[in-house]
Amino acid sequence: MSHESAIIVADQIRTNPKTVLGLATGSTPLGLYNELIKLHNSEGLDFSNVISFNLDEYVGLPKNHPQSYNTFMFKTLFSKINIKQKNVHIPNGSSFNLKECDKYESLIKIYGGIDLQILGIGSDGHIAFNEPSSSLGSRTRLKTLTEKTVNDNARFFDNISNVPKYAVTMGVGTIMEARKILLLASGDSKAKPITKAIEGPISSMCSASAIQMHPKTIVIVDEAAAKNLKEKDYYKWVYRNKTNIN
Ligand code: F6R
Repeated sequence: MSHESAIIVADQIRTNPKTVLGLATGSTPLGLYNELIKLHNSEGLDFSNVISFNLDEYVGLPKNHPQSYNTFMFKTLFSKINIKQKNVHIPNGSSFNLKECDKYESLIKIYGGIDLQILGIGSDGHIAFNEPSSSLGSRTRLKTLTEKTVNDNARFFDNISNVPKYAVTMGVGTIMEARKILLLASGDSKAKPITKAIEGPISSMCSASAIQMHPKTIVIVDEAAAKNLKEKDYYKWVYRNKTNIN
């Protein structure tokens, strides 16, 4: 999953060195980020003109908090590649206000929109922090996290009571405007949400299902996450008979 997705991201950057990348945090993209770091070190994959926008940030944690998404991104990726700090954008969760959300949306537009958006999926089917019942037209805003998401994220904190309950997150509408989307998922816990997202009805109850309406989304999953997909054999068949026609 990580290797395949790194090839796509690297191709995108080589084709357009000024690519605007949408980035996710969490466990899912860690392998992809490691592959990109490897490509940067071994083949000189150049991030110097890449612009990045992160999907979300916890509200209430200072930027330099060990569990903030800002810290996560610098620790796992930005400090290991040659992306310029001025080209990195992460929603500000420490002094949250609605004007900042609008500014984030405007900034994405000023840079010409997101070329390639990386997504993980939550066990409740969320993309970014668009929890069940999020409007499929939503924009960057504050969301209250579900109890399930708080529990899922507790593994990164000493105590569950320290897990933030709010996040500032790109909306489903924001994500859907990306020119290309790469959704990644691995492991048993993602089998249910992945099946809902790909083969279920399009519904705000699984915000990831909005990708069914997107003209250019690639989903990369491992066997465990794919285990309940009804059309699994067909997807494998498509992959084996891949064309270069875009
Ligand atoms: C993180 C994000 C979330 C995660 C999702 C899966 O920036 O937007 O939607 O992608 O919660 O998290 P992991 O990868 O930790 O299972």
